[in-house]
Amino acid sequence: MHLKKKGKNSLLDFLNDISSMANIHYIRQKDPKGLPDAILHAEKHVGDDPFAVLLGDDIIKSKVPCIGQLIDVYKEFKSSVIAVQEVSWDKINRYGAVKSKKIAPHKGSAVFELEDIVEKPDPSVAPSNIAAIGRYVFTPEMFDCIKKTKPGVNNELQIADSIKILKKQQKIYASEFDGKRYDIGDKLGYVEAIIDFALEKKDIASDLKAFLKTRC
Ligand code: G1P
Repeated sequence: MHLKKKGKNSLLDFLNDISSMANIHYIRQKDPKGLPDAILHAEKHVGDDPFAVLLGDDIIKSKVPCIGQLIDVYKEFKSSVIAVQEVSWDKINRYGAVKSKKIAPHKGSAVFELEDIVEKPDPSVAPSNIAAIGRYVFTPEMFDCIKKTKPGVNNELQIADSIKILKKQQKIYASEFDGKRYDIGDKLGYVEAIIDFALEKKDIASDLKAFLKTRC
């Protein structure tokens, strides 16, 4: 109403476009019990369908959204899929580290069958330096697996432990993806993401470049 009154119609159209894309429900996780617990809060909205999980601190810039790439893999293999990416060995202790065997290329990205996943391992015991990235497609069986998950690393429920339980019932696929990932849970990653995205904005790119030059 406010925008309409002020005649800010293009801003109003922009907001209306966003709000017509989807119905969004928010649920507050009252206790920080870990990621699987947060996912469980969505159970009543998901029902008996496969569903996507996107972690807000992993931002991915790509032509086809990363979750769309995973959904494609899901459609082919009809089983849960997690996104993976190689990280440097000294950073693997921030992630779920994946042990897997390569099975097939899928539209240019490698798809692996998951053999094991270990949450935040010390590099000396990590099964690989292939990390789970915050994009997942799960079948609804995941909810029961979450309910069976016991607290793990940091005394929190860990998604890697729920995935291990799910793996006893179905094959789980790990898929590489096309795109650049920013870990905005990391200070440098956060700044890199803002700069890269801002440099793509026509209205501010050239001023931002000029500013960066004065600083570098
Ligand atoms: C979570 C998951 C971890 C995954 C990571 C991806 O960790 O528990 O398995 O590799 O996201 O960003 P968190 O970032 O919550 O520590």
